[in-house]
Amino acid sequence: MLQVKEVQSIVNQYIENIDWGISPQGLYDPIAYVLGLGGKRIRPVLSILSANLFTSDITSVVTPAIGLEIFHNFSLLHDDIMDHAEMRRNKPTVHMKWNENTAILSGDAMLIKAYQHIAETPSYCLSEVFSVFSKTALEVCEGQQYDMEFELRENVSESEYLEMIRLKTAVLLGASLQIGALIGKANEKDAQLLYDFGINVGLAFQLKDDLLDVYGEAETFGKNIGGDILCNKKTYLLLQALERATGDTKIELQEWLNKKDYIASKKIAAVTEIYNQLGIKSLCEEKINAFFSLAIQCLDKVQVSLVKKDILRDLAEELMYRQV
Ligand code: IPE
Ligand code: IPE
Ligand code: MG
Ligand code: MG
Ligand code: MG
Repeated sequence: MLQVKEVQSIVNQYIENIDWGISPQGLYDPIAYVLGLGGKRIRPVLSILSANLFTSDITSVVTPAIGLEIFHNFSLLHDDIMDHAEMRRNKPTVHMKWNENTAILSGDAMLIKAYQHIAETPSYCLSEVFSVFSKTALEVCEGQQYDMEFELRENVSESEYLEMIRLKTAVLLGASLQIGALIGKANEKDAQLLYDFGINVGLAFQLKDDLLDVYGEAETFGKNIGGDILCNKKTYLLLQALERATGDTKIELQEWLNKKDYIASKKIAAVTEIYNQLGIKSLCEEKINAFFSLAIQCLDKVQVSLVKKDILRDLAEELMYRQV
């Protein structure tokens, strides 16, 4: 049974050894840059750990798992344009360091590279993995579209929000675990339970991301704090605030959402203060804990020994309490 650190080092080494030093550099340098900035790399790690529940030989899962990480990084290049984000992993985003066209095209190339890695899946499950991955990739686009549309909408329900984050974030975590399980020759039922585990971890993961976007430390989180507030992102925090605010607070919140000209730091401070008054942070934390519990219920049903599953449980728990 591999430990998380061993799996991380397999992933890190693989990514370090990819040679992006090919022409045209304008296309490949940004790819080397963003992948070189690291990140948590949880998707390939989850995928490999999932395979390792069912097999000790994880060699054939590594390349597809890297494909999942390349896909994730592709989505970040485009996401940062869409979200006007200037910092990621404590460095300027690709569209800031180069320009938007570069982030679009290098992103496109990464999507293709991701597919090439997924295509290295062993033949016994290639067609199933391919269809899981393609379905997931399309769902991420759907989620990102809802995310943008919701910025412009005044009333978004909690269930619409949850469906949006399921699509933009959770399905890729679910698919990473499912793909790992399939390559590890798990039965369909266990592979599905691991997918469901990933969905619930993913929902909690995005809720935590939304929380850190307001309450995190820029240095640790690696992204500018308050970006979601500036974009009027319909995060769980904002939806709860809209539902709970009354009287003058409600009016003030609405005014900030409608304001076209403002000083960014003032809007962030004012909206954060409203969240503080309404106790939004702990509501969000409760929701995270609820999805974590659902995740564990799915993991419990997977037909492998408890000790093997502890690694995934502990990793999921770390993700809930992360500051990064
Ligand atoms: C950021 O993903 C985008 C979300 C889905 C919240 P991660 O938090 O996994 O980012 P990195 O890869 O570790 O930087
Ligand atoms: C990102 O959600 C989801 C995808 C990249 C598909 P966010 O927009 O919240 O991610 P960050 O906060 O920029 O990493
Ligand atoms: Mg986004
Ligand atoms: Mg973003
Ligand atoms: Mg975010």
